[in-house]
Parts: sequence; structure tokens; C-alpha cells
Amino acid sequence: MVTRKDSKVDYIILGGGIAGMRAAIELARGGHVLVLTKDELYESSTEYAQGGIAAALSEDDEVTLHLHDTLLAGDGLCREEAVRVLVEEGPRQIHQLIEWGMRFDRNGTKLAFTREGAHSRSRVLHAHGDSTGSEILRALMAKAKSLPTIQLYPRAFATELLVEDGSVLGVTYLDEKTSTPRCTRAGAVLLATGGLGHVYKETTNPSVACGDGVAMAYRAAALISDMEFVQFHPTALFVQGAPRFLLSEALRGEGAQLRNILLERFMPRYHEAAELAPRDVVARAIIREMHKTRSEFVYLDMTSLDAEHVKKRFPRIYATCLNHNIDITADLVPIRPAAHYSMGGVVTDLQGATSLTQLFAAGEVAATGVHGANRLASNSLLEGLVFGARAAAAMLGKHVPKGFPSPPGGTPQAGPYAGATAIPSEPSLADSYQKASEEARAILWDKVGIIRDGKHLSEAVKRLAEIHLQDPHPPTRLDCESCNILDVARLIARCALAREESRGAHYRSDFPLKNEAKPPQHSYVSRGIPVFFD
Ligand code: FAD
Ligand code: SIN
Repeated sequence: MVTRKDSKVDYIILGGGIAGMRAAIELARGGHVLVLTKDELYESSTEYAQGGIAAALSEDDEVTLHLHDTLLAGDGLCREEAVRVLVEEGPRQIHQLIEWGMRFDRNGTKLAFTREGAHSRSRVLHAHGDSTGSEILRALMAKAKSLPTIQLYPRAFATELLVEDGSVLGVTYLDEKTSTPRCTRAGAVLLATGGLGHVYKETTNPSVACGDGVAMAYRAAALISDMEFVQFHPTALFVQGAPRFLLSEALRGEGAQLRNILLERFMPRYHEAAELAPRDVVARAIIREMHKTRSEFVYLDMTSLDAEHVKKRFPRIYATCLNHNIDITADLVPIRPAAHYSMGGVVTDLQGATSLTQLFAAGEVAATGVHGANRLASNSLLEGLVFGARAAAAMLGKHVPKGFPSPPGGTPQAGPYAGATAIPSEPSLADSYQKASEEARAILWDKVGIIRDGKHLSEAVKRLAEIHLQDPHPPTRLDCESCNILDVARLIARCALAREESRGAHYRSDFPLKNEAKPPQHSYVSRGIPVFFD
């Protein structure tokens, strides 16, 4: 029903990070583009991205090497055609970004590259040392603001997708500037809502990363994939009571070492690439050392590196740690892994189309298949650029998506929050939304974390299913986020229980090996049907 507050635009983009902004610039020639961001404009994972953006642009590098490294890190589960698109189109997208004013760090006139884990070449471009994401966003925002058809609309929290007969017609959102629920229709909608780190108690992600996009798409009956693959970044600052600030992998690329609390360097015992092994290997090694030494953390040691170089190369990290009275050039830095990145999400084809007509997805919310079971460091900013631009191009054209698997267990049904009743909640229930999401985040951290097993996963699935929340009425951002966290937590736990093997970031101590009996399969889930593999 069209209400007084309904409006119509040509395109809606949910999210103003790298994927959303890249798409907006592409879409601008097609009409009125409305970009909604749930918080202030710049508040996104992109803004906090540190290490850099990977692309085969250095003299000793090749696109085929980038392809090979990405496939290897993905542990058999990457969609090779998607990875080809990523590594082949990436360099052109980077040049485009430079034309729009992006200032990467340089050695003289040449672009400067750093090394990160599981890359066979130094191929990671960076800016202001360790503030790559914020410089990218500055350049994209500047370009977008020069295009009159783009309307940037911050503090607008999208609550639901409007769906009719499997087609997405628009979105409902909460305009926090006026506290008004609103509804806007559009010819096509792009989900670029980013990640879901806050589904876990400990995360490197900013607080906007609650999995809203996956939760909305799931409720609209879109196909969701590979939710069990959550990447834990090995090195988040561990200071009691402080957020888990990221300590970039580029520190290890520049020579930082990991030591347990007995000050032993341990990574060479776990992998030939030592500190530059794939992230899942490093994260598990840290957990094992923590258990062995009965400690809550291990150390990152940069004390043997040139202090002036460290301060210049990593100014943001240096300053942030100093605020916690840690001088990274002189002190050992307490760290432990934290939830960082979701490889899974809303299934898309190579053009960003989802299983719902006129709904597209790009960036961390999407499951393009480029990252397989484990993302190669610094590939996600690149994914946002490449697939943001591709999704926009498809939205402008007449793209007909195909090739999504059909659920064997029935037809997905759109509906309210999983487990919700239609009864409006009393205001006094507000507190229980917060409590429910806090419990869900603790369950995921304790039972669906870095090392998993069937017993704890079953307990997690059972308990998460028992938590019931009513559809928030009237909706508030905090209550809706809690519902989204619960919906997404359930998906991760169910998919993790269903995958009875270890692969990439999904490690099960009761199934410690890959299932080699059949070709690697993606997991799928949709509202109203059980997890299936294809
Ligand atoms: P984001 O940049 O997270 O943007 C999401 C947007 O969606 C935001 O504008 C948000 O407001 C909006 N949004 C969310 N929900 C709603 C809603 N309900 N309604 C309206 N708007 C909504 N990757 C790399 O490749 N290299 C790195 O060096 C790197 N470093 C990282 C460091 C940190 C600390 C973190 C957290 C991540 C890092 N990553 C890095 C990962 C990378 O930053 C992200 O995967 C990437 O930026 C995601 O981009 P995005 O556009 O998909 O989403
Ligand atoms: C980092 O700087 O370590 C983060 C890089 C990434 O997540 O790709």
C-alpha cells in the first residue's frame, strides 16, 4: 500500500562503503540514485580498512599469480570464474580510482606495494601507511558528490525489503533524523550493507556491521550461501574493556613476529610460511598456543623493526596503541584473534544479481564465490570495487540472472524475524532485544568460533532457536539490529553444524580433514528450508 511517506527513485543502494559508492558512481548516469547509510556517511568497514588493496600491478607480478594465490587461500571452494573476474578487472578499477583522485603511497613516482599472508608477491597497495580504506572512501565520496543524480542519505536504517511475488520493489527504513518510518520504491535495489562481525562477541568490525543485509535478504526469501565461513583476523589488540582494534597483517608483512607468553616464536612450528601463513592457520595456531600456555593472549613483536619506519608506515596503529599505553616499537603487544570477515552472504551471479528479481548485492554482504572458504588478505576492498561496478552495470541493463540452485526441501517463504510472532512488543520488552543479541554474540564466540565441534554446534543451534523475539513495534534501530544479529547467528550456527568437514576458516575438531570423497560443495540456506549443499 502506498502511504503518504512513500517516494520513488530509480535506484536504491543500501550502504555507503566501497561497494555501494563504486556502484553509485556507475549508476549515476541511469537516473536518481538514493544511497542510504545507517549511521554517519563514512561509518563503515571500508573507512577502517588498514592493510590495503591487492592487485597484480607490480613489475614482478602477474594476474595468473594473483588468481593462483586466491584459489589456494580459498581451499577448493572459490568459484574460479568469479576469481578471474576479480583479478583481471581489478587493475583497471585501481587505475580508475587513481584517476578519481585516490592517493596511494609511492616510492618516488612508483606505486609502493607491501606483502601480506598467503600472497606470493608484494601486491598490496596502501595509503597514508595504514589508512587505505579511509583514503579510498574519501576519493569515492568526492567523485559521488560531483554527480548530481546521487543523493547521499545518512542515518537511514533499512529495516526490510519490499517484496511482491519474488520481486524486490523497494525498501522500508527508519529515518533517524526525524524518527520516521519511511518507504521508498525503486526500479532496482543494491544491498551493499557490508559484514556481520558484530554477530560475534569479539570483532574487529565497526558497530554498523550487524549482518543487516543478510538478515533482510533472508527474510525476503533470497538464497544465502556459505555462512559457516567466517574469517577470524589473527591479530586484534587484546586490552581488557577496549574494542578489538585491528593490528594489520601488513605488520607481519614487514617482519613482525608472533610469540607466546613464554616469549617463544611459534609460527614456524605450524606452517612453512610462518607468520605469513593463511589467516585461518595463524588464528588456530594462536588459539592452540593460548591453550597450551593457559593464557588469554599471545604477543605481536615489532621490537626488532626499525622504530622510525614502523611509526611512519603504521601511524594510525602506532597512535591507537599508544593511547592504550603500548608503544609498538618498544613493547610486546598483546593480541588474539577476533571475527573479521564473512566469506558467505547473499548469493549472486557474476553480475551481482541475487535469486530475487531486481535485488542485487555487492561487497562483503554478497557471496560471489571469490573468497571460497578463506579470503586472501586485501582481496575484499578489490571485490567491492570490481563487483560494485559490475552490479551497477547489470542494474542499468536488462540482465537476466540464472544458475541459482533450487532448494530440494521446498520453496523459500518470505516472513518476519525468524521465530518472531506478529504481536507488537510492549515498550518494557526493549531490554530483552539487547539481552537476546548479547546472548547470541556470546554463543557464537564460545561455540561457533575458530575451533568447532558437533556437540557445541548442536548446543548453539538449539539455544539460538529457543530465543524468541517479537517483531519490533515501533521499530528502533537497536531492536532491529538485535533481531538481525539473532537471525544471522542462527544461519551461521546451522550451516556450521551441517558442514561435516574442515575447510578454510571452518575448522571442526570432530571432522579435522577435508571431505575429499566428493567435489567441494557450497552450503545454501533460505527461509523455510533446511541447509543444503550443491
Ligand atoms: P562497508 O564498507 O562495511 O559498508 C557498509 C555500509 O552499509 C555502511 O555505509 C553502513 O552504514 C551500511 N549499512 C549496513 N546496514 C545498513 C542498514 N540496515 N541500513 C542502511 N545502511 C546500512 N579488506 C581489505 O581488502 N583490505 C584491508 O586492508 C582491510 N582492512 C580491514 C580492517 C578492518 C578493521 C575491517 C573491519 C575490515 C577490513 N577489511 C579489509 C575488510 C573490508 O574493509 C570490508 O570487507 C569492506 O570494506 C566491505 O565493504 P562494503 O562496501 O561491502 O561494506
Ligand atoms: C589487515 O590489514 O590485516 C586487514 C586486511 C584484510 O582484512 O584484508
